[in-house]
Amino acid sequence: MDKLLIQGGAVLSGEVAISGAKNAALPILCAALLTTEPVHFTNVPQLNDISTMLRLLADMGVGVTKDGVDGLTLDGGKLNNPVASYEMVKTMRAAILVLGPLVARCGEARVSLPGGCAIGARPVDQHIKGLQAMGAEISVEHGYVHAKASRLKGARICTDMVTVTGTENLMMAACLADGETVIENAAREPEVVDLANCLVSMGARISGAGTDVIRIQGVEKLHGATHSIMPDRIETGTYLCAAAVTGGDVRLLKTSAAYLDTVVDKLMDAGCDITVERDSIRLVAPKRLKAVSLRTAPYPAFPTDMQAQFMAINCVAEGVATIRETIFENRFMHANELARLGADIQIEGSNAIVRGVARLEGATVMATDLRASASLVIAGLVAQGETLIDRIYHLDRGYAQIEEKLTKLGAIVKRVH
Ligand code: EPZ
Repeated sequence: MDKLLIQGGAVLSGEVAISGAKNAALPILCAALLTTEPVHFTNVPQLNDISTMLRLLADMGVGVTKDGVDGLTLDGGKLNNPVASYEMVKTMRAAILVLGPLVARCGEARVSLPGGCAIGARPVDQHIKGLQAMGAEISVEHGYVHAKASRLKGARICTDMVTVTGTENLMMAACLADGETVIENAAREPEVVDLANCLVSMGARISGAGTDVIRIQGVEKLHGATHSIMPDRIETGTYLCAAAVTGGDVRLLKTSAAYLDTVVDKLMDAGCDITVERDSIRLVAPKRLKAVSLRTAPYPAFPTDMQAQFMAINCVAEGVATIRETIFENRFMHANELARLGADIQIEGSNAIVRGVARLEGATVMATDLRASASLVIAGLVAQGETLIDRIYHLDRGYAQIEEKLTKLGAIVKRVH
């Protein structure tokens, strides 16, 4: 199992390019199931989750052709097996995103229920409820969702809570339904908008993406298109935090601050100087950050996927920060690992109280989930001495070429097998 060895103390500086967004690419690749024509993608991130999704789609009969480094062509014309097996789904819960497109395109689907995961139970009841409202007959047997529908019918759906992939699944299914679907309480995340833009370029009729009411007029069929995946705002925020905590001066390229208002605001509150250019962001950090409190909530509020990274920078900031996690019930597992580095963190229910300490000491720590592992990298960059992070397969799911990018910025990091 790979580990990451970090020698703390380097001040990050220089430039690095941000990759395409994992959480936009995952639903957008599934959109190729909705048409028999090839769909071309660019700026696709090189991530394990993306390779897993491509293996799953190929398993169903979809033609997968790589076009250079970040290009891809998917041909849904040969789709012949609307099944997502447990083997595939257990390593990547986002595989549930094939459910809506398969029911809409083939009239049936058999998709393994994603198990829970480290950060929470993460059920998919809203995905199922929405498809049932559109006329799908759904049963859950032996850990699989079986869905059937001769043709989905447009419906008015209001999800019980804001769900990103729930909104995405239902929006994709509605594209080929008979009539209009209205999704209320829809997720407003930028990745939902990127998916909607891709679907519209394929001939879908969608309005309201990015607001909490999305209207989709079903059409008979969709056609091929070309779509460039939006930049990864969470990868961007993660590198901003890494630069901030080391007192660095970095410029992130091929990205935008457009979807990171709350994260940029918090980093400025912490004392960073941030300059936003057309497709890049520059951060100049102070010698020591000031503690910043935050509360996660659905977009446009502070993203839960940046919570762990901010816990890490608060560990060595001046003052006390309160971090409130409102989306997932168990997303503080990085706290125990940060404590091994000398952090002072108290968990009280969905609140974490972080008291900044003068310094952290390198140690061996273990990654537990994707963003938790990012927080350990950030802490390792500023801890004194060596930090060894185990189980970094979590990192590889969501951060492309992480050691190359950090090394380019001056970090002393290497992967040990
Ligand atoms: C997406 O997960 C992201 N993943 C997550 O990013 C992100 O943390 C999350 O949205 C919240 O922003 C992808 O886009 C692939 P939800 P998703 O449905 O869609 C509950 C990362 O680090 N819920 O918005 O699975 C659920 O338990 C990952 O890149 C139900 O109860 O999250 C959670 O408490 C981690 N029933 C809340 O809603 C449902 O049917 C929000 O979940 C659906 C969700």
